[in-house]
Amino acid sequence: MQIDVFTLFPDAFAWFERQRHVANALAGGHRLEYVNYRDHTPLGAGQVDDTPFGGGAGMVLRVDVVEAALWARYGRDPVQLRQDRRVIVLAPGGTLLDDALVGELAREEALTLLSGRYEGFDQRIVDHFASDEVSIGRYVLAGGELAAMVLCDAVLRKLPGALGHPDSALEESFSDALAGAPEYPHYTRPAEWRGWRVPDVLLSGHHARIREWRLAQSAARGTGSADGPLP
Ligand SMILES: C[S@@+](CC[C@H](N)C(=O)[O-])C[C@H]1O[C@@H](n2cnc3c(N)ncnc32)[C@H](O)[C@@H]1O
Repeated sequence: MQIDVFTLFPDAFAWFERQRHVANALAGGHRLEYVNYRDHTPLGAGQVDDTPFGGGAGMVLRVDVVEAALWARYGRDPVQLRQDRRVIVLAPGGTLLDDALVGELAREEALTLLSGRYEGFDQRIVDHFASDEVSIGRYVLAGGELAAMVLCDAVLRKLPGALGHPDSALEESFSDALAGAPEYPHYTRPAEWRGWRVPDVLLSGHHARIREWRLAQSAARGTGSADGPLP
């Protein structure tokens, strides 16, 4: 998979690339690359944004600047690009990222992520260049870099070879193996701490009963009755 992140702050991703599963994915041939809008702006003095028509606070990323960056990267009209490549605008009000969408994106060969800053994007960028608008949650971050990392983190760990153990992603929260429910609780040593005992079944060595207990715990969490309701 090839993921291109358009951003004003490519340096923000240095730590992210060092994370084990990301490093594994990159070592395995997947690619994560960055395009700085500022490097391609047709405007003077590195300008990328402007004041909003109609007034109001903040600055808006310009459509001509984003178009120039997309042209420079792909050598074709960005209006056509979204026909054969997912071009995702990161925006608080977009489609909420969930495990199903992550799985869908992990099956793509290439993704383009557009990170915003300030007040966000001129709407014509969304309307004419993007295939998707995606939100990582109903809150507002200062910029799209963390949102891009969240999306890339979740997508890359689904790719074969990214996780240390290939089974790790098979049975986890929201997976088919757990019928889409959150994962069951885990415990490790010590078996008792301050009187808080690990459930006896997990110490029993009885694999069938442990399995049954875990599935029941997961199912109960899915309905919100184990450890409190799901949102
Ligand atoms: C300060 S935000 C802009 C918020 C925008 N004015 C609004 O009210 O929706 C700047 C940028 O951060 C990114 N961003 C912030 N919160 C996000 C979220 N929850 N999901 C995805 N991207 C987000 C987007 O790329 C956005 O353009």
